Amino acid sequence: MDKIRIIGGNQLNGEITISGAKNAALPLMIASLLTDEELVLDNVPNLADVKQLQKILENHGVEINISDHIKTDDMGGQKVSFKAKTISDTCAPYELVSAMRASFWVIGPLLGRMGEAKVSLPGGCAIGTRPVDFFLDGLKALGAQIEIEDGYVIAKAPEDGLRGNRVHFPRISVGATHTVMMAAVLAKGITIIENAACEPEIGNVARCLIAMGAKISGLDTHTLTIEGVEKLNGANFEVLPDRIEAGTFAMAVAMSGGDVLMRKGRASDLQAAVDVLIKAGVEIEQEENGFRVKANGAGLRPIDVETDPFPGFPTDLQAQYMALMTRAAGVTNIKETIFENRFMHVAELARFGADIKVDGQSAIVSGVPQLSGAQVMATDLRASVSLVIAGLVANGETIVSRIYHLDRGFERLEEKLRRCGADIERISE
Ligand code: UD1
Repeated sequence: MDKIRIIGGNQLNGEITISGAKNAALPLMIASLLTDEELVLDNVPNLADVKQLQKILENHGVEINISDHIKTDDMGGQKVSFKAKTISDTCAPYELVSAMRASFWVIGPLLGRMGEAKVSLPGGCAIGTRPVDFFLDGLKALGAQIEIEDGYVIAKAPEDGLRGNRVHFPRISVGATHTVMMAAVLAKGITIIENAACEPEIGNVARCLIAMGAKISGLDTHTLTIEGVEKLNGANFEVLPDRIEAGTFAMAVAMSGGDVLMRKGRASDLQAAVDVLIKAGVEIEQEENGFRVKANGAGLRPIDVETDPFPGFPTDLQAQYMALMTRAAGVTNIKETIFENRFMHVAELARFGADIKVDGQSAIVSGVPQLSGAQVMATDLRASVSLVIAGLVANGETIVSRIYHLDRGFERLEEKLRRCGADIERISE
Protein backbone atom coordinates (compact mmCIF):
# COMPACT_ATOMS: atom_id res chain seq x y z
CA MET A 1 0.00 0.00 0.00
CA ASP A 2 1.29 3.46 -0.90
CA LYS A 3 2.40 5.92 1.77
CA ILE A 4 3.27 9.60 1.74
CA ARG A 5 6.52 10.85 3.20
CA ILE A 6 6.93 14.50 4.13
CA ILE A 7 9.82 16.43 5.60
CA GLY A 8 8.29 19.49 7.21
CA GLY A 9 9.49 23.06 7.16
CA ASN A 10 9.31 24.30 3.56
CA GLN A 11 7.15 27.24 2.54
CA LEU A 12 4.78 26.87 -0.42
CA ASN A 13 5.18 29.21 -3.37
CA GLY A 14 3.86 29.15 -6.92
CA GLU A 15 0.62 27.94 -8.48
CA ILE A 16 -1.69 25.01 -7.95
CA THR A 17 -4.29 24.16 -10.59
CA ILE A 18 -7.53 23.20 -8.90
CA SER A 19 -9.10 20.06 -10.37
CA GLY A 20 -12.75 19.50 -11.21
CA ALA A 21 -14.88 18.93 -8.13
CA LYS A 22 -15.32 15.30 -7.14
CA ASN A 23 -18.65 16.11 -5.50
CA ALA A 24 -19.98 17.56 -8.76
CA ALA A 25 -18.34 15.06 -11.13
CA LEU A 26 -20.00 12.08 -9.42
CA PRO A 27 -23.63 13.28 -9.70
CA LEU A 28 -22.96 14.69 -13.18
CA MET A 29 -21.79 11.25 -14.28
CA ILE A 30 -24.89 9.73 -12.69
CA ALA A 31 -27.05 12.19 -14.67
CA SER A 32 -25.92 10.38 -17.85
CA LEU A 33 -28.38 7.60 -16.88
CA LEU A 34 -31.25 9.99 -17.62
CA THR A 35 -30.81 10.10 -21.40
CA ASP A 36 -30.12 7.75 -24.31
CA GLU A 37 -28.01 10.51 -25.88
CA GLU A 38 -24.38 11.35 -25.20
CA LEU A 39 -23.38 13.44 -22.17
CA VAL A 40 -19.86 14.82 -22.49
CA LEU A 41 -18.24 16.11 -19.32
CA ASP A 42 -15.14 18.27 -19.27
CA ASN A 43 -12.71 18.78 -16.38
CA VAL A 44 -13.49 15.40 -14.79
CA PRO A 45 -10.89 14.72 -12.07
CA ASN A 46 -8.84 11.54 -12.25
CA LEU A 47 -9.77 10.02 -8.88
CA ALA A 48 -10.42 6.59 -7.42
CA ASP A 49 -14.07 7.54 -6.71
CA VAL A 50 -14.57 8.57 -10.34
CA LYS A 51 -13.13 5.24 -11.54
CA GLN A 52 -15.36 3.36 -9.12
CA LEU A 53 -18.45 5.16 -10.40
CA GLN A 54 -17.41 4.40 -14.00
CA LYS A 55 -17.55 0.70 -13.11
CA ILE A 56 -21.01 1.12 -11.61
CA LEU A 57 -22.32 3.01 -14.64
CA GLU A 58 -20.80 0.46 -17.03
CA ASN A 59 -22.63 -2.22 -15.10
CA HIS A 60 -25.89 -0.39 -15.94
CA GLY A 61 -24.92 -0.38 -19.62
CA VAL A 62 -23.38 3.09 -19.96
CA GLU A 63 -20.68 3.35 -22.64
CA ILE A 64 -17.82 5.49 -21.36
CA ASN A 65 -15.01 7.03 -23.40
CA ILE A 66 -12.16 9.03 -21.99
CA SER A 67 -10.96 11.12 -24.90
CA ASP A 68 -8.51 13.47 -23.29
CA HIS A 69 -6.17 12.23 -20.61
CA ILE A 70 -4.66 14.56 -18.09
CA LYS A 71 -1.64 16.38 -19.45
CA THR A 72 1.16 16.42 -16.90
CA ASP A 73 2.21 19.97 -17.71
CA ASP A 74 -1.10 21.80 -17.44
CA MET A 75 -2.94 19.56 -14.93
CA GLY A 76 -6.09 19.87 -17.05
CA GLY A 77 -8.93 17.46 -16.32
CA GLN A 78 -10.29 14.66 -18.46
CA LYS A 79 -13.00 14.90 -21.09
CA VAL A 80 -15.25 11.90 -20.64
CA SER A 81 -18.30 10.91 -22.66
CA PHE A 82 -21.15 8.81 -21.32
CA LYS A 83 -23.83 7.19 -23.43
CA ALA A 84 -26.61 5.23 -21.77
CA LYS A 85 -28.32 4.21 -25.04
CA THR A 86 -30.04 1.42 -23.21
CA ILE A 87 -29.98 0.59 -19.52
CA SER A 88 -29.14 -3.10 -19.51
CA ASP A 89 -29.36 -3.62 -15.74
CA THR A 90 -31.25 -1.57 -13.14
CA CYS A 91 -29.46 -3.26 -10.23
CA ALA A 92 -26.46 -1.66 -8.52
CA PRO A 93 -24.86 -4.54 -6.59
CA TYR A 94 -23.28 -4.46 -3.15
CA GLU A 95 -19.77 -5.22 -4.45
CA LEU A 96 -19.81 -2.00 -6.48
CA VAL A 97 -21.87 0.32 -4.27
CA SER A 98 -20.32 -0.47 -0.89
CA ALA A 99 -17.05 1.34 -1.66
CA MET A 100 -18.64 4.74 -2.14
CA ARG A 101 -21.81 6.23 -0.72
CA ALA A 102 -22.57 8.49 -3.69
CA SER A 103 -23.12 5.46 -5.92
CA PHE A 104 -26.44 4.98 -4.10
CA TRP A 105 -27.63 8.13 -5.89
CA VAL A 106 -28.14 6.14 -9.14
CA ILE A 107 -31.48 5.16 -7.64
CA GLY A 108 -32.96 8.58 -8.64
CA PRO A 109 -32.29 8.55 -12.40
CA LEU A 110 -32.86 4.79 -12.72
CA LEU A 111 -36.28 5.15 -11.16
CA GLY A 112 -37.07 8.24 -13.24
CA ARG A 113 -36.08 6.73 -16.57
CA MET A 114 -36.70 2.99 -16.13
CA GLY A 115 -39.40 3.00 -13.46
CA GLU A 116 -37.42 0.59 -11.30
CA ALA A 117 -34.14 0.24 -9.43
CA LYS A 118 -32.54 -2.21 -7.05
CA VAL A 119 -29.63 -0.57 -5.27
CA SER A 120 -27.50 -1.85 -2.43
CA LEU A 121 -27.56 0.25 0.71
CA PRO A 122 -24.39 2.38 0.64
CA GLY A 123 -21.03 2.29 2.38
CA GLY A 124 -18.46 5.10 2.18
CA CYS A 125 -16.42 6.97 4.78
CA ALA A 126 -16.80 5.85 8.39
CA ILE A 127 -17.77 9.33 9.57
CA GLY A 128 -21.21 8.53 10.88
CA THR A 129 -24.25 6.39 10.28
CA ARG A 130 -25.27 8.28 7.12
CA PRO A 131 -28.79 6.90 6.69
CA VAL A 132 -30.88 7.16 3.48
CA ASP A 133 -34.31 7.90 4.97
CA PHE A 134 -34.61 11.33 3.28
CA PHE A 135 -33.88 9.77 -0.10
CA LEU A 136 -36.51 7.11 0.36
CA ASP A 137 -39.17 9.47 1.74
CA GLY A 138 -38.50 11.86 -1.17
CA LEU A 139 -38.85 9.10 -3.76
CA LYS A 140 -42.00 7.80 -2.03
CA ALA A 141 -43.48 11.32 -2.26
CA LEU A 142 -43.03 11.03 -6.04
CA GLY A 143 -45.09 7.83 -5.96
CA ALA A 144 -42.37 5.20 -5.73
CA GLN A 145 -42.96 1.98 -3.83
CA ILE A 146 -39.96 1.13 -1.73
CA GLU A 147 -38.99 -2.11 -0.08
CA ILE A 148 -35.80 -3.07 1.70
CA GLU A 149 -34.71 -6.66 1.22
CA ASP A 150 -31.36 -8.33 2.02
CA GLY A 151 -29.49 -5.03 2.19
CA TYR A 152 -31.01 -3.73 -1.04
CA VAL A 153 -33.49 -0.94 -1.66
CA ILE A 154 -36.01 -2.06 -4.27
CA ALA A 155 -37.85 0.88 -5.76
CA LYS A 156 -40.69 0.82 -8.28
CA ALA A 157 -42.50 3.71 -9.94
CA PRO A 158 -46.24 3.48 -10.67
CA GLU A 159 -47.26 2.10 -14.14
CA ASP A 160 -47.47 5.58 -15.62
CA GLY A 161 -44.25 6.82 -13.99
CA LEU A 162 -43.30 9.08 -11.09
CA ARG A 163 -45.51 12.08 -10.32
CA GLY A 164 -44.34 15.49 -9.18
CA ASN A 165 -45.05 16.44 -5.57
CA ARG A 166 -43.87 18.60 -2.70
CA VAL A 167 -40.82 17.13 -0.96
CA HIS A 168 -39.71 18.70 2.30
CA PHE A 169 -36.41 17.44 3.72
CA PRO A 170 -36.28 17.46 7.55
CA ARG A 171 -32.66 18.60 7.32
CA ILE A 172 -30.40 19.56 4.48
CA SER A 173 -28.90 16.63 2.58
CA VAL A 174 -26.70 16.99 -0.47
CA GLY A 175 -27.22 13.43 -1.67
CA ALA A 176 -30.99 13.39 -1.14
CA THR A 177 -31.30 16.70 -3.04
CA HIS A 178 -29.30 15.36 -6.02
CA THR A 179 -31.26 12.12 -6.04
CA VAL A 180 -34.77 13.54 -5.79
CA MET A 181 -33.91 16.28 -8.31
CA MET A 182 -32.74 13.63 -10.79
CA ALA A 183 -35.83 11.51 -10.22
CA ALA A 184 -38.14 14.54 -10.60
CA VAL A 185 -36.82 15.81 -13.95
CA LEU A 186 -38.61 12.96 -15.76
CA ALA A 187 -41.67 12.80 -13.45
CA LYS A 188 -45.10 14.02 -14.55
CA GLY A 189 -45.95 17.47 -13.24
CA ILE A 190 -44.21 19.74 -10.79
CA THR A 191 -41.94 18.82 -7.90
CA ILE A 192 -41.01 21.35 -5.27
CA ILE A 193 -38.03 20.41 -3.11
CA GLU A 194 -38.05 22.41 0.11
CA ASN A 195 -35.05 22.67 2.43
CA ALA A 196 -32.92 21.57 -0.52
CA ALA A 197 -29.14 21.70 -0.27
CA CYS A 198 -27.70 24.64 -2.22
CA GLU A 199 -24.04 23.64 -2.34
CA PRO A 200 -22.38 24.92 -5.56
CA GLU A 201 -22.20 21.30 -6.77
CA ILE A 202 -26.02 21.05 -6.69
CA GLY A 203 -26.21 24.21 -8.84
CA ASN A 204 -23.63 22.71 -11.21
CA VAL A 205 -25.69 19.54 -11.65
CA ALA A 206 -28.97 21.49 -12.01
CA ARG A 207 -27.37 23.60 -14.78
CA CYS A 208 -26.24 20.43 -16.56
CA LEU A 209 -29.76 18.97 -16.30
CA ILE A 210 -31.13 22.22 -17.75
CA ALA A 211 -28.63 21.92 -20.63
CA MET A 212 -30.06 18.41 -21.13
CA GLY A 213 -33.59 19.85 -21.43
CA ALA A 214 -34.81 19.73 -17.82
CA LYS A 215 -36.94 22.54 -16.39
CA ILE A 216 -35.58 23.61 -13.01
CA SER A 217 -35.89 26.94 -11.23
CA GLY A 218 -34.73 28.20 -7.85
CA LEU A 219 -31.08 27.34 -8.56
CA ASP A 220 -28.66 28.09 -5.70
CA THR A 221 -31.53 28.46 -3.22
CA HIS A 222 -33.12 26.12 -0.67
CA THR A 223 -36.26 25.64 -2.82
CA LEU A 224 -35.99 23.91 -6.17
CA THR A 225 -38.97 23.76 -8.53
CA ILE A 226 -38.81 21.09 -11.20
CA GLU A 227 -41.31 20.70 -14.01
CA GLY A 228 -41.01 17.19 -15.37
CA VAL A 229 -40.31 16.66 -19.08
CA GLU A 230 -40.88 13.59 -21.32
CA LYS A 231 -37.27 13.08 -22.31
CA LEU A 232 -33.82 14.54 -21.79
CA ASN A 233 -31.18 15.04 -24.45
CA GLY A 234 -27.38 14.90 -24.47
CA ALA A 235 -25.17 17.88 -23.61
CA ASN A 236 -21.61 19.11 -23.20
CA PHE A 237 -20.91 20.36 -19.73
CA GLU A 238 -17.95 21.36 -17.55
CA VAL A 239 -17.39 20.21 -13.96
CA LEU A 240 -16.85 23.21 -11.68
CA PRO A 241 -13.53 23.62 -9.81
CA ASP A 242 -13.23 21.75 -6.52
CA ARG A 243 -13.83 24.24 -3.69
CA ILE A 244 -12.79 21.68 -1.07
CA GLU A 245 -9.48 21.03 -2.81
CA ALA A 246 -8.94 24.80 -3.13
CA GLY A 247 -9.78 25.33 0.54
CA THR A 248 -7.47 22.49 1.53
CA PHE A 249 -4.51 24.01 -0.31
CA ALA A 250 -5.39 27.43 1.12
CA MET A 251 -5.05 25.90 4.58
CA ALA A 252 -1.78 24.22 3.59
CA VAL A 253 -0.37 27.62 2.61
CA ALA A 254 -1.76 29.20 5.78
CA MET A 255 0.06 26.47 7.73
CA SER A 256 3.43 26.50 6.01
CA GLY A 257 3.53 30.13 4.91
CA GLY A 258 4.14 31.28 1.34
CA ASP A 259 2.29 32.69 -1.64
CA VAL A 260 0.25 30.42 -3.92
CA LEU A 261 -2.25 31.12 -6.68
CA MET A 262 -5.11 28.60 -6.63
CA ARG A 263 -5.56 28.58 -10.40
CA LYS A 264 -9.26 28.21 -11.38
CA GLY A 265 -10.23 28.42 -7.67
CA ARG A 266 -13.31 30.49 -6.80
CA ALA A 267 -13.09 32.11 -3.38
CA SER A 268 -16.83 32.86 -3.49
CA ASP A 269 -17.61 29.11 -3.51
CA LEU A 270 -15.97 28.82 -0.10
CA GLN A 271 -16.60 32.26 1.31
CA ALA A 272 -17.27 31.07 4.88
CA ALA A 273 -13.87 29.36 5.04
CA VAL A 274 -12.15 32.28 3.31
CA ASP A 275 -13.64 34.69 5.86
CA VAL A 276 -12.36 32.53 8.73
CA LEU A 277 -8.87 32.32 7.25
CA ILE A 278 -8.75 36.09 6.73
CA LYS A 279 -9.80 36.64 10.35
CA ALA A 280 -7.05 34.23 11.37
CA GLY A 281 -4.49 36.40 9.60
CA VAL A 282 -4.20 34.89 6.11
CA GLU A 283 -4.35 37.12 3.03
CA ILE A 284 -6.74 35.89 0.33
CA GLU A 285 -7.64 37.72 -2.83
CA GLN A 286 -9.61 36.71 -5.89
CA GLU A 287 -7.70 37.36 -9.10
CA GLU A 288 -8.70 36.84 -12.70
CA ASN A 289 -7.36 33.26 -12.94
CA GLY A 290 -8.06 32.08 -9.44
CA PHE A 291 -7.48 33.20 -5.89
CA ARG A 292 -4.18 33.97 -4.20
CA VAL A 293 -3.30 32.90 -0.65
CA LYS A 294 -0.46 34.54 1.27
CA ALA A 295 0.65 33.78 4.79
CA ASN A 296 3.80 34.01 6.85
CA GLY A 297 3.31 30.61 8.50
CA ALA A 298 3.22 31.74 12.12
CA GLY A 299 1.08 33.46 14.72
CA LEU A 300 -2.35 32.63 13.30
CA ARG A 301 -5.26 33.86 15.41
CA PRO A 302 -7.57 31.14 16.76
CA ILE A 303 -11.01 31.60 15.19
CA ASP A 304 -13.89 29.41 16.37
CA VAL A 305 -15.77 27.52 13.68
CA GLU A 306 -19.02 25.58 13.40
CA THR A 307 -19.64 23.44 10.32
CA ASP A 308 -22.90 24.01 8.47
CA PRO A 309 -24.51 23.28 5.12
CA PHE A 310 -23.61 25.77 2.36
CA PRO A 311 -23.10 28.72 2.62
CA GLY A 312 -21.71 27.80 6.06
CA PHE A 313 -18.25 26.46 6.87
CA PRO A 314 -17.98 23.08 5.04
CA THR A 315 -17.65 19.92 7.09
CA ASP A 316 -15.28 18.73 4.36
CA LEU A 317 -12.75 21.37 5.53
CA GLN A 318 -13.14 20.75 9.25
CA ALA A 319 -10.23 18.32 9.62
CA GLN A 320 -7.89 20.53 7.59
CA TYR A 321 -8.85 23.59 9.65
CA MET A 322 -8.25 21.65 12.84
CA ALA A 323 -4.75 20.77 11.65
CA LEU A 324 -4.15 24.45 10.95
CA MET A 325 -5.34 25.58 14.38
CA THR A 326 -3.03 23.14 16.16
CA ARG A 327 -0.39 25.86 15.80
CA ALA A 328 -2.60 28.92 16.36
CA ALA A 329 -1.77 31.43 19.07
CA GLY A 330 -4.50 30.37 21.49
CA VAL A 331 -7.52 28.08 21.86
CA THR A 332 -9.96 27.30 19.02
CA ASN A 333 -13.36 25.68 19.41
CA ILE A 334 -14.39 23.62 16.38
CA LYS A 335 -17.94 22.29 16.34
CA GLU A 336 -19.03 19.59 13.90
CA THR A 337 -22.77 19.72 13.23
CA ILE A 338 -23.15 17.61 10.07
CA PHE A 339 -21.66 14.21 10.92
CA GLU A 340 -21.57 12.65 14.37
CA ASN A 341 -18.27 10.82 14.04
CA ARG A 342 -15.99 13.17 12.21
CA PHE A 343 -13.18 13.62 14.72
CA MET A 344 -11.16 10.51 13.95
CA HIS A 345 -8.24 12.70 12.86
CA VAL A 346 -7.93 14.03 16.44
CA ALA A 347 -6.07 10.96 17.69
CA GLU A 348 -3.74 11.08 14.68
CA LEU A 349 -3.09 14.83 15.03
CA ALA A 350 -2.18 14.16 18.67
CA ARG A 351 0.70 12.02 17.38
CA PHE A 352 2.28 15.22 16.03
CA GLY A 353 2.09 16.72 19.54
CA ALA A 354 -1.17 18.62 18.96
CA ASP A 355 -3.27 19.46 22.02
CA ILE A 356 -6.93 18.66 21.21
CA LYS A 357 -9.76 17.66 23.51
CA VAL A 358 -13.06 16.36 22.21
CA ASP A 359 -16.20 17.31 24.08
CA GLY A 360 -19.27 15.88 22.35
CA GLN A 361 -19.57 17.50 18.95
CA SER A 362 -16.82 20.03 19.71
CA ALA A 363 -13.05 19.85 19.57
CA ILE A 364 -11.06 22.28 21.66
CA VAL A 365 -7.71 22.90 20.05
CA SER A 366 -4.97 24.58 22.10
CA GLY A 367 -2.25 25.84 19.80
CA VAL A 368 1.29 24.58 20.33
CA PRO A 369 4.42 26.32 19.05
CA GLN A 370 5.72 23.36 17.06
CA LEU A 371 4.55 19.96 15.77
CA SER A 372 6.92 17.05 15.45
CA GLY A 373 6.91 14.59 12.55
CA ALA A 374 5.16 11.26 13.19
CA GLN A 375 3.91 8.04 11.65
CA VAL A 376 0.19 8.46 11.17
CA MET A 377 -2.70 6.69 9.53
CA ALA A 378 -5.41 8.15 7.30
CA THR A 379 -8.90 7.32 8.56
CA ASP A 380 -11.13 8.96 5.97
CA LEU A 381 -10.90 11.12 2.90
CA ARG A 382 -10.71 14.61 4.39
CA ALA A 383 -8.98 13.48 7.60
CA SER A 384 -6.13 12.06 5.55
CA VAL A 385 -5.28 15.40 4.03
CA SER A 386 -5.30 17.09 7.45
CA LEU A 387 -2.38 14.83 8.36
CA VAL A 388 -0.50 15.98 5.27
CA ILE A 389 -1.10 19.62 6.28
CA ALA A 390 0.30 18.92 9.74
CA GLY A 391 3.27 17.11 8.19
CA LEU A 392 4.14 20.17 6.08
CA VAL A 393 5.23 22.09 9.16
CA ALA A 394 6.17 19.31 11.58
CA ASN A 395 9.83 18.97 12.56
CA GLY A 396 11.44 16.07 10.73
CA GLU A 397 9.79 13.19 8.91
CA THR A 398 6.09 12.32 8.68
CA ILE A 399 4.80 9.12 7.11
CA VAL A 400 1.08 8.96 6.29
CA SER A 401 -0.17 5.44 5.61
CA ARG A 402 -3.50 4.20 4.18
CA ILE A 403 -3.48 6.98 1.63
CA TYR A 404 -6.01 5.19 -0.54
CA HIS A 405 -8.45 7.44 1.33
CA LEU A 406 -6.58 10.43 -0.11
CA ASP A 407 -6.67 9.05 -3.64
CA ARG A 408 -10.45 8.89 -3.48
CA GLY A 409 -10.72 12.66 -3.51
CA PHE A 410 -7.43 14.46 -4.15
CA GLU A 411 -5.83 14.34 -7.55
CA ARG A 412 -2.01 14.14 -7.52
CA LEU A 413 -1.84 15.89 -4.19
CA GLU A 414 1.84 15.23 -3.58
CA GLU A 415 2.78 16.42 -7.05
CA LYS A 416 0.84 19.66 -6.67
CA LEU A 417 2.48 20.38 -3.30
CA ARG A 418 5.95 19.36 -4.47
CA ARG A 419 5.76 21.81 -7.37
CA CYS A 420 5.24 24.58 -4.80
CA GLY A 421 8.31 23.57 -2.84
CA ALA A 422 7.07 20.98 -0.34
CA ASP A 423 9.38 18.08 0.45
CA ILE A 424 6.81 15.36 -0.13
CA GLU A 425 6.84 12.06 -1.99
CA ARG A 426 4.73 8.96 -2.51
CA ILE A 427 6.35 5.72 -1.47
CA SER A 428 5.00 2.65 -3.25
CA GLU A 429 5.51 -0.66 -1.53
C1 UD1 B 1 -22.16 15.07 0.67
C2 UD1 B 1 -20.73 15.15 0.19
C3 UD1 B 1 -19.78 15.07 1.38
C4 UD1 B 1 -20.12 16.15 2.40
C5 UD1 B 1 -21.60 16.12 2.76
C6 UD1 B 1 -22.02 17.28 3.63
C7 UD1 B 1 -20.69 14.20 -2.03
C8 UD1 B 1 -20.29 13.08 -2.90
N1 UD1 B 1 -20.47 14.05 -0.71
O1 UD1 B 1 -22.33 13.82 1.33
O2 UD1 B 1 -18.45 15.27 0.87
O3 UD1 B 1 -19.36 15.96 3.57
O4 UD1 B 1 -22.41 16.14 1.57
O5 UD1 B 1 -21.72 18.48 3.01
O6 UD1 B 1 -21.19 15.21 -2.49
N2 UD1 B 1 -28.84 12.34 6.44
C9 UD1 B 1 -29.88 11.65 7.01
N3 UD1 B 1 -30.71 10.95 6.20
C10 UD1 B 1 -30.58 10.93 4.85
C11 UD1 B 1 -29.51 11.65 4.27
C12 UD1 B 1 -28.66 12.36 5.09
O7 UD1 B 1 -30.04 11.66 8.23
O8 UD1 B 1 -31.36 10.27 4.16
C13 UD1 B 1 -27.91 13.10 7.31
C14 UD1 B 1 -26.48 12.55 7.23
O9 UD1 B 1 -26.30 11.44 8.09
C15 UD1 B 1 -25.69 13.74 7.67
C16 UD1 B 1 -26.48 14.91 7.09
O10 UD1 B 1 -27.78 14.40 6.84
O11 UD1 B 1 -25.66 13.84 9.06
C17 UD1 B 1 -25.93 15.49 5.81
O12 UD1 B 1 -25.57 14.46 4.92
P1 UD1 B 1 -25.62 14.64 3.34
O13 UD1 B 1 -25.68 16.09 2.99
O14 UD1 B 1 -26.66 13.74 2.79
O15 UD1 B 1 -24.17 14.09 2.94
P2 UD1 B 1 -23.79 13.29 1.64
O16 UD1 B 1 -24.68 13.67 0.51
O17 UD1 B 1 -23.63 11.86 1.96
